[in-house]
This record gives sequence, structure tokens and C-alpha cells, in this order.
Amino acid sequence: MAKHKILVARAVFPEIIALLEQHFEVEHNQADEPWSRDQLMQKIRDKAGAFTTGGERIDAPLLDSASQLKICANMAVGYNNFDVPAMTQRRVLATNTPDVLTETTADFGFALVMSIARRMAESEHYLRAGKWDRWRYDMFAGSDVHGSTLGILGMGRIGQGIARRGAHGFGMNVIYHNRSRLTPELEAQCKARYVGKQELLQTADHLVLVLPYSAESHHTIGAAELALMKPTANLINLARGGIVDDAALAQALRDRRIAGAALDVYEGEPKLNPALLTVPNVVLTPHIASATVPTRMAMAKLAADNLIGFLVHGKPLTPLNPEVLV
Ligand code: GLV
Repeated sequence: MAKHKILVARAVFPEIIALLEQHFEVEHNQADEPWSRDQLMQKIRDKAGAFTTGGERIDAPLLDSASQLKICANMAVGYNNFDVPAMTQRRVLATNTPDVLTETTADFGFALVMSIARRMAESEHYLRAGKWDRWRYDMFAGSDVHGSTLGILGMGRIGQGIARRGAHGFGMNVIYHNRSRLTPELEAQCKARYVGKQELLQTADHLVLVLPYSAESHHTIGAAELALMKPTANLINLARGGIVDDAALAQALRDRRIAGAALDVYEGEPKLNPALLTVPNVVLTPHIASATVPTRMAMAKLAADNLIGFLVHGKPLTPLNPEVLV
């Protein structure tokens, strides 16, 4: 039987290309060229499957021009680049990569908490700039992590991982807010207490955002929410750009309305609001929360296994719209 044609939209581990080539005729992008939307649409047109990485918008116009397409496998747990209802309507399967990145991403969330609380980036810049000439009693004095209140907005798997680290590792008082409350067993495991959103904003010393992006979660944190936070609090966003109003955040940081922020994701990334680059009390990383070699490999392998599982064996591993299968 002729092999299905698939598109791998971005550069990925060579081992993954080799695995896919065992099963498919693969058009890849190992040169990692930035394809325009038109180029992507052109290339996907005759493909049965696409390996995407979260940056490629899979929506109705693209789907309508790709009549052969049966599956898009995202190498990411987030899938706001997919219009899932449009995919379901056209019987195109969507898959993501849950679970394999949970602990690595929770580690990184905690690293962001630590780095902003202890002003690590700001103090390193100072040192590199040759400004350090002597010790001072209040030099880069930050806030404590141990014993403080950790607030988590969005209590899925990654939020729970961060809560466990805070409660068990650092003796933090953990509070959370989520669309739905965790079971009492999970709340006990995470030592986390459910609170309303307003209490979360007003009480957290370190507020971590881990909720999925959607039209409803757009600008969940804007000027009004920042105004409710303690002036000593830090905001940490490792969810998605757009959940925070970055312009309002830059202003709040400049005015010292809150103490600091640590961000891994941005509105309009890889571009970011230039005002964020001019405030000192912010830690900025380029969307790398899941970036360890083993975890990125596990994500790529799961995306590839979804393509193989579905197109070759009829059984994807982590479908987002399983109604397409029936
Ligand atoms: C990364 O942002 C992911 O969604 O996996």
C-alpha cells in the first residue's frame, strides 16, 4: 500500500524524522525555515497528516484547502493554535502531548518562582555590567519562598505539580482557583485550598498562572486584577501569552504596583511588548518551560506516535476530539 504523505512543519529531532519515514512519505522542514501561512497551506494541501508544534494555525480556511488531511498532531500540551470544533466538523483528528511534560514544566514553574523571588536575573545583570563593588545590607533583597503563600490559577496537572513542590518542598501555604474544584483526595495530595479568584489575587505572595488560553481566558490578568495584588507579590506566567495584558503588566512593574514578574510566554511571541524589556523587576525566558532534552524527545515521540497510531493502526494515543474516531 502506498505510504500516507505527512508534513512536519518545524525542525525536530532527526530520530523522529527517521521514525516517521519508516511509515510515511515525509516532507520535513529540518532547515527550520519560517514558512508563511500561504506556504504552510500549500504544503499541507496534499498531506494526510501534519506534525505541528503549536505555532501553526489550523483553522477553517486551512482545513478547507486541505481535503486529504486526517490528523494534526501538536508537539505541545497546549492547542490554542487548533480550531478544534472546525477540525471535528471536517473529521480531522487533533492530538496533543499531555502528561509527558508535566513534571518538567512544573520544575520550570518553580524555577521562575525562585528566580523572581530572589531577583536572580536582575542581580546577574548588575554583576555582568561590572556594577558590583561591595556588599550592602539590602542589595537585591527579595522575598521568601519558604513559608509564603503560593497562589495557582489553573489547577490542571502542571498546576498540581507546582502545588506539590511548593507545599511539600518549601512548606508553602498553597491556595488555588480553577474552573472546577479538585477532588478532596487531590486537594490533600497538593495540600491546596480552593479559594475564589479575588481572594487568590489578594492573598498570594507568588501567583502562578497555568490555565489554558482561550477567548474566555484572554486578559484574565489585566490592570484591575494587578491592582488587587499585594505590592510585594510576584506574578509568574508559564501558561500562554494573551492570558496576561502585557502592557498593563509592564506598567504595574514600572510603578512597583507589584514586586516582580517572571514570564515564559508573551502576547504576540516571539515578539514581546518592548516595555517589558525596559523594566528591571522581571525575569524573561523564551517559552522554554518544557525544554529538557528527555522531555522534548518524549513530546516529539508522542506526537509521532499519534500520527503512526492513527494513520497506520487507527488508534491515536491522545486524541482531543475522539468523536472523529467513531
Ligand atoms: C508548551 O507551551 C506546550 O503547550 O506544550
